[in-house]
Amino acid sequence: MTAEEIRKKYLEFFGVRGHAIVPSSSLVPENDPTTLFTGSGMQPMVPYLLGEPHPLGKRIADSQKCFRAQDIEEVGDNRHTTFFEMLGNWSFGDYFKREQIAWMWEFLTVELALDPNRLYFTCYGGNETLGIPRDTEAAALWQNLFKEKGIDTTIAQDAETKGLQGARIFYYGDKKNWWSRVGVPLAMPVGEPGGPDTEMFWDFGEQRLLHEHSVWKNEPCHVNCDCGRFMEIGNNVFMQYVKTENGFSLLPEPNVDFGGGLERMAVASMDIPDVFLSDLFTKTRQMLEGMTGKTYISDGEETRALRIIMDHIRVAVFLLGDGVTPSNTDRGYVLRRVMRRAIRYGDTLGLSPGSLSLLSQSVIDEYRAPYPALVEHAHSIREEIGNEEDRFRLTLEKGMKELERRVKSGKVSGKDVFDLFSTYGFPFEMTKEIAEERGIEVPTEDFQEEFKKHQELSRTASAGKFKGGLADVSEKTTALHTATHLLLAGLRKFLGESVHQAGSNITEERTRFDFTFPEKVSRETLTRVEEYVNEAIASRASVETEVLDKEVARASGVEGSFWEKYPDKVSVYRVRGENGTLYSQELCGGPHVRTTEGMGRFRIVKEEASSSGVRRIKAVLE
Ligand code: SER
Repeated sequence: MTAEEIRKKYLEFFGVRGHAIVPSSSLVPENDPTTLFTGSGMQPMVPYLLGEPHPLGKRIADSQKCFRAQDIEEVGDNRHTTFFEMLGNWSFGDYFKREQIAWMWEFLTVELALDPNRLYFTCYGGNETLGIPRDTEAAALWQNLFKEKGIDTTIAQDAETKGLQGARIFYYGDKKNWWSRVGVPLAMPVGEPGGPDTEMFWDFGEQRLLHEHSVWKNEPCHVNCDCGRFMEIGNNVFMQYVKTENGFSLLPEPNVDFGGGLERMAVASMDIPDVFLSDLFTKTRQMLEGMTGKTYISDGEETRALRIIMDHIRVAVFLLGDGVTPSNTDRGYVLRRVMRRAIRYGDTLGLSPGSLSLLSQSVIDEYRAPYPALVEHAHSIREEIGNEEDRFRLTLEKGMKELERRVKSGKVSGKDVFDLFSTYGFPFEMTKEIAEERGIEVPTEDFQEEFKKHQELSRTASAGKFKGGLADVSEKTTALHTATHLLLAGLRKFLGESVHQAGSNITEERTRFDFTFPEKVSRETLTRVEEYVNEAIASRASVETEVLDKEVARASGVEGSFWEKYPDKVSVYRVRGENGTLYSQELCGGPHVRTTEGMGRFRIVKEEASSSGVRRIKAVLE
């Protein structure tokens, strides 16, 4: 079964079981300052897991775009990718273990027709110190489901040292079978939700090649080992605890948080132990084969490089599609890092300059149907990738010479790493990687110190980038937010309907607003836009909000970018003058002033290029 079919089947399966199907959120989390990227399906659901009612009810399902930057180094084996779609279903205080486990069993064995003889499950072994019990209920539920199929199984412990022990169900501890956004119970900050989980594994078979190459071949194989025989295809989290000052307490309602990797399910159903052979990579794989003249196989010498390129180009496309642009700070830095890493691995395979920009089209084509916004942004995505490659190549040669010089001296210091970053744009980790490939260790402490300095700098630069671009919710910032809506409406009035928001950052002092437009905006036009905003302010307009069906809102001319990421019901904010003139109507999550009275005079201070196809305006209220 293809990933495409599985995505559809899964959403239908949970749809008929009473779940509202919501679109994927952006990879750039909204209203969540704790993390740079959406790394799991549950992230956008945190408020509802903590008890806030979800507007669409207690049962939700989706297929969520995820990016796990922390897995960059893992990419290269048969199952790790930094980007993936996570199929997810949630119960917010509705159904619990019994239903979830029975449905998952049905989904795997009936819908995906997976052979139950090749399924394995792990459950939480408990933590006595924290007073959290072993999940014997989940284990017994799986055991019974096996039994119904005529398969007897025991439940085993200590699989990590003793191996499979002829069992199909295993207890593991905090590291493997406890889930929270930050990992084990002890790492969780106060207020963070988490819980025991039960994970599902597919057995590709002991005889498979990957197993023979296993680093584990002299140790007992178990479902969580790294040999490639078993692949985790889904995780049912029983989100029922919240961290407190003194330990854990139960959440008001127990929740279910399920997440399963789409490609992993696909390759399990195809019984091919390699996610890069799933249909979601077909176009990219074929194009890359054509470009390099190499044939992709799962255990060739160049497999790792090919996988890294396939993975990194895909995530670059999705990040650019969600409005991230390459830079030297926070999200932009991570994007730059994956792009430059892909270029470097491309070079080792003899890819000609410009290839990655072409290759990005294969990703856009592959995801045309589920993510139409990528098609809409195809031109700028390809261009950004091309531009980044040009920028990198300009300094690559010089930077490499410089690095080689330092490598020859047998030592690369943290300062060298920093110099290469600041002068040649070499991401820190890349310099470290290149040095290590040549057998030179960059002293970890040295490196970490420089890296920390850099992170602190970028954190300062990005401080307060939350609440949908608002640094805080003070009166001044809120007024500038309303003014920003008027600004966009003015720009669309004088520059045309192709203008959309591409990003914003609002502080007490000013608004910084990025929008799509191919060329410089003349001073005359900027003046007209200013006049438009000031006229609206002078009309003592009020800001109204209304919840509408997305399609109704869209059809009535409400402005918004990335419609597909919004749920079926959306909040629309309208700025309407006392005389009834409608100055702006836009999708938004607030906050706004109630009336424009006393907001002051709006002035555009600066208009400049932001990235290709995107302009940036800085404006103030005086
Ligand atoms: N939150 C869990 C995970 O990411 C299940 O959705 O694995």
